[in-house]
Order: sequence, then structure tokens, then C-alpha cells
Amino acid sequence: MSSTIGPDPAAILDHYSMWDPEHEKVKWDVFAHARQSCPVAHTDADGGGQYVVTRYEDVRRVLEDPATFSSTGVAPRPAPVTLNPLDADPPFQPDLRKILNPLFSRTFLMKFEPQMRKSAVDLIDNWIDRGTVDLISEFAAPYVGSVLAQIVFDEQDAAKTQRGIDIVTAVALEGGDESYFHLAVLAAEYIAEREDNPVDRNDVLNAITTGTVLGGRPLTEDERLGVITVLFLGGLDTTRGAIGAIAYHLARQPELEQRLRDPRWIRQDMDEFIRLESPVGCLGRTAMKDVELGGTRIKQGEQLLVRFDSANRDDAKFPDADQLTFGTPRSGHAGFGLGIHRCLGVHLARIQITVAFEELFKRVTNLRFAEGGGAEQVHWAPGIANGPERLELAFDLI
Ligand code: HEM
Repeated sequence: MSSTIGPDPAAILDHYSMWDPEHEKVKWDVFAHARQSCPVAHTDADGGGQYVVTRYEDVRRVLEDPATFSSTGVAPRPAPVTLNPLDADPPFQPDLRKILNPLFSRTFLMKFEPQMRKSAVDLIDNWIDRGTVDLISEFAAPYVGSVLAQIVFDEQDAAKTQRGIDIVTAVALEGGDESYFHLAVLAAEYIAEREDNPVDRNDVLNAITTGTVLGGRPLTEDERLGVITVLFLGGLDTTRGAIGAIAYHLARQPELEQRLRDPRWIRQDMDEFIRLESPVGCLGRTAMKDVELGGTRIKQGEQLLVRFDSANRDDAKFPDADQLTFGTPRSGHAGFGLGIHRCLGVHLARIQITVAFEELFKRVTNLRFAEGGGAEQVHWAPGIANGPERLELAFDLI
């Protein structure tokens, strides 16, 4: 439901809802106001109310203290399944990360690079002759969906691979309950198949069916399914949003193309886009005891909304934080999180984004808003993920 509150950031803050499209339009003003005057602000919206954590130093403190701020409260809306490791605390969470981390290292993931390139090229082929594209639905979403399906299921059979890609791509494009249901069924099938027919392969399915936690117990069925679910929840809208946000800035500032054609952009500039646009805008935590944060008293059991995006635009940490600033290292941003839950997929995201723009720039130049469009027409949906919903672009061929 849309808000009837006026555009006064102070008035909105008391009732700020992360799901309200009207609040989404003014959120940067609301967070800037909060960081100045009430950095840990109570809002009565979104069922029962919560504390919105907006300053970098408070966000960092919360993320680095899982004993006080539990990830059992990570989902801003109740999730129908477990989402471990995202919604887990120590000692289980670090044990699970030990099982998963090796499969998401840069070195390990590079073996999927040829498949990523092929996915990108095949998608570009579909619209290259048209001169225009909705970069989200015709490129970013199906690209991240097919790459993630191939990595998570690691299927050797071509027809089954395609089935997985189709199901995951539907989730990436639509994200509705039905598409998630199909994905859960597929994931359960894959897990059962691997349990019944173990194979000696170093992949996600083997890790979760043979790996142990908490001194040697195997994962439960629920936990196994939770891992697969969270890999897709964590890996689709996020990287899609990052590719979309970078392309949006390219369309606004054509001179950026030159920067992104230089391979050094990957190390020097990519994180500056992630900092500014924070593809994961926020997630939750639950206070495990009474605590003071940013001058506000929070009681045990109360819910926090940790704003990665607001922390990333805090001038106290990043001077001129609302601007893309290249050339000065801006280390420590919260775009991939901080502390023990720091993103498992950070290397995957970086490789995917790199390959996406490399393949695009082999074929097209001068990406710009399509006729009749412009930066103001681009719609950013409210919710956890931050990125353009559609991005109609025109381009010239190389
Ligand atoms: C640009 C893309 C991405 C961004 C901005 C991003 C951001 C984040 C953030 C902020 C967190 C911390 C959550 C918290 O503290 O509660 C996180 C955790 C996580 N991300 Fe990502 N992510 C991205 C891509 C991916 C990809 C591609 C995957 C797929 C493997 C992924 C999987 C995960 C998982 C499983 C966690 C939970 C880790 C844990 O709880 O230990 N992410 N991500």
C-alpha cells in the first residue's frame, strides 16, 4: 500500500516502510536525515515496528557482534524455509561456511568462466540486431540465472541442465511464489538423487550431502534445502541489480564506457558502483539482550533493519558519499556485508559482472537510454534488493 505521508523525511522516518514504493523514491533523503538526527530510528511500519540502523559505524557494530545481534532476525518478512547460513548464528553458521567457502573461491569458480561467457554471448545474440534491449529481462536476469543454475546443480546432462536453467531463470525474471515452488522441487530432487547415488565430485551438492557440522553431524534435509534456497535468493536479484545499476550509470555518464573498457576497472572501480548502489539494501537482525546503539535503547527481542545502503552513503565514512568517486580507494564498504556473514558469493558476483561487461563491450558501444526514456523513467523497486526493474537501452554496434 502506498503511503499518504508527505515528502518530509522526518515525518516519513517514524513510519518508514522498506516495502512502500513512495518511501523508496525518497529513501536517500530519509536515511540522510536519520544519519544526522536519529541514526537508529524506530519505525512503526512493517508489522510490529523495528529500528532502522543508518550510520556506517552502527551498521558495522551490529554486523560484527552476532552474539548481541542475531541473524535469526535476518529476513525482513518471515521466510517459509530456513535460509542457512544467512539466518544462522555461531557455532552452526561458521561450520556451514567452512563447507561452502571452498566452492565459492575465485580459483574454484574460474572453471565455470567458459560457461558464463557462452551464456552471455547466447543472450546478446538474441537482441544484438535490434539496436535496443531491456538489459534486465533480456540480459542480466537470464544471465545470472543460467550461470547460478550451472554452478549449483553442476549437471552433466545437457537436457537436464537446460531444465535447471529454465526453472532458475523463471525465478530470476518473475520471483513469484510459483517459480520458487518449482525451484524448491528441483532442488529437493537434486539433493535426493545425490543422496541415493553419491558421486565423487567437488560441488555444492556433494558438499551439503556429505559435509558435517557441530562436531560431526550431517546436515538435516531442511538445512540442505535451505542452503540451495539461499544460494538462489542471494545470487539472483543481487548480481542482476549490480549489472543493472552499472549499466544505468553508463547510460547516464557515457564517458564511463572508456573506464569500463580498461580491465583495471575490475579492481579499481567495480566496488565503487557496489558501494554507491548497494544491490542488497538491507537485512534484519534480532537483539539478543538490552543494548544501546547509536544513542537509542533497544530491548531484547526487538528487531533491527540494518541498512547496508545507508551505511555506504555515510559521509562520515565516505566523503561525498552520494557520488561515484574513482581514483581514491574507498575501502571497507558494506555492500557485501561485514563480519561473519560477509557475502559467500562475492567472487562469483565479481566474475559474473566482469564477464557480462566484457562480452557486451565486444559487440556494442554507446549504451544510452532508449528513445523516450531517461534516468527519471527508471523504476527502482522497494524491498531488499536494489536495482532497476527495467532498463531500456539503445546502443551502436562495434
Ligand atoms: C553484487 C552481488 C551481491 C551482493 C551485493 C551481495 C550482498 C550480500 C550481503 C550484503 C550479504 C550479508 C548478509 C548479512 O549480513 O546478513 C550477503 C550474504 C550472502 N550472499 Fe551475497 N551478494 C551478492 C551476490 C551473491 C551471489 C552471486 C551469491 C551466490 C552464491 C550470494 C550468496 C550469499 C550468501 C549465501 C550469503 C549468506 C552468507 C552467510 O550468512 O554466511 N551473494 N550477500
